[in-house]
Amino acid sequence: MSQPKGYVDPEYLRAMRNLLNHIKQRSYGLMQIQPGHKVLDLGCGPGTDTIPLAPMVGVNGQVIGADYDEAMIAAAVLSAEQADVNTWVMHQCVDARSLPFETDYFDSCRSERLFQHLLNPAPALSEMTRVTKPGGWVVVADTDWGSLSTDSDEIDIERRLARFLAESSLHNGYSGRKLYRLFKQQNLTDISFEVFPVATPCYSLARQATQAERIEQQALKAGVVTAKELQRWQASLEQADSEGVYFGSVNLMMFAGRKN
Ligand SMILES: C[S@@+](CC[C@H](N)C(=O)[O-])C[C@H]1O[C@@H](n2cnc3c(N)ncnc32)[C@H](O)[C@@H]1O
Repeated sequence: MSQPKGYVDPEYLRAMRNLLNHIKQRSYGLMQIQPGHKVLDLGCGPGTDTIPLAPMVGVNGQVIGADYDEAMIAAAVLSAEQADVNTWVMHQCVDARSLPFETDYFDSCRSERLFQHLLNPAPALSEMTRVTKPGGWVVVADTDWGSLSTDSDEIDIERRLARFLAESSLHNGYSGRKLYRLFKQQNLTDISFEVFPVATPCYSLARQATQAERIEQQALKAGVVTAKELQRWQASLEQADSEGVYFGSVNLMMFAGRKN
């Protein structure tokens, strides 16, 4: 079966956890979690965040991880069992656009790097807002792939590939910059935002994080770059790597808002 646009597997998400840990921790802080709280992680993947959230709410609380991918949910359920938190950390297969939870059920909700996969993210934020209690926090973090930048003399190829990644390999690759508008449209209050640069001098990590192999092949197939250009591009990066001067970065944006 073919994978949906921008699909990433549980292994990829576990590898990214270390790179993004400070951002994840900040999102937990913005949720203002207390023991006994009920919290939602929408687009939870393999439980990357639901397991760390477990001790924050404690056994009298509830963490629900929701994702539409059955393989992600199976991995998350296993992680919760292995961490021995499965009596209060549950995972469910759901579509972000229509949540099977009661209105005003959760004390806070978070979502990280889900909206970039949604053609229209407004219904997902509307659902997150609906299921949050009045006064509770809604926290969303997502990438602005338009900010992807790699130091290279091949600027034209670099821009074309970055633009292809943002516009063609994902449904909503500029997601991060659109969050403010979305939060305002949902009438969330006390809106705050932070921008997190994710930068690395490690070429192999950057290639993994940006799914470079897949994107380059798709771009080649789409005629965005020629085989010769792709060769030149890869050679330039490999040279930078061998000289110890590779550098790449991208920005993540995090918004928090309170339900009225
Ligand atoms: C980039 S991953 C992020 C996972 C997790 N939040 C993390 O930080 O590790 C995006 C996740 O969103 C899920 N997803 C994509 N579209 C969805 C939808 N319409 N409803 C629910 N989940 C969805 C994918 O299955 C995937 O697990």
